[in-house]
Amino acid sequence: MTGSGEVEAKIEAALKNPRNLGEMENADAVGTVGSPDCGDMLRMWIKFKEEDGRKVIDRATFQSFGCQTAIAVASVATELLTGKTIAEAKAMTGEELAAPLGALPPVRIHCAQLVEGALRSALSDEKAVAAPTPTAAKSPTLLERLSPNTERKVKIVLND
Ligand code: FES
Repeated sequence: MTGSGEVEAKIEAALKNPRNLGEMENADAVGTVGSPDCGDMLRMWIKFKEEDGRKVIDRATFQSFGCQTAIAVASVATELLTGKTIAEAKAMTGEELAAPLGALPPVRIHCAQLVEGALRSALSDEKAVAAPTPTAAKSPTLLERLSPNTERKVKIVLND
């Protein structure tokens, strides 16, 4: 069993060199969640790709407005998510996402759940998840998606 000192050391190591930190400009999906327990927030961006005829996560990044444990969990979780299908990613619990850090102490479990929540929020971004991956090297911008080439006419009304 992993001792709490070892978990703390792993959290510190992840914080010294956080992976996949920052906004992803050409993401296919984004999800944000706030914790009712502590008020912390986490946002996750996901990019998909086709691999062997399956849609898998190419890359996930995050931004955290929260505690260090959530940052450490998001760092290891975004690495774990690479190559997972949507169904596989949806099935992952906060505990599994934080597994590389070891068993978190009970007071820190909600920090891992924050990461799980942001992941679920991004994966429930139905439109983005269901959209076929563009074959072009560059994904369409929102403006291109709304371009008049599309069958449906979109009217944008700006509020005062
Ligand atoms: Fe709130 Fe960690 S203390 S997410």
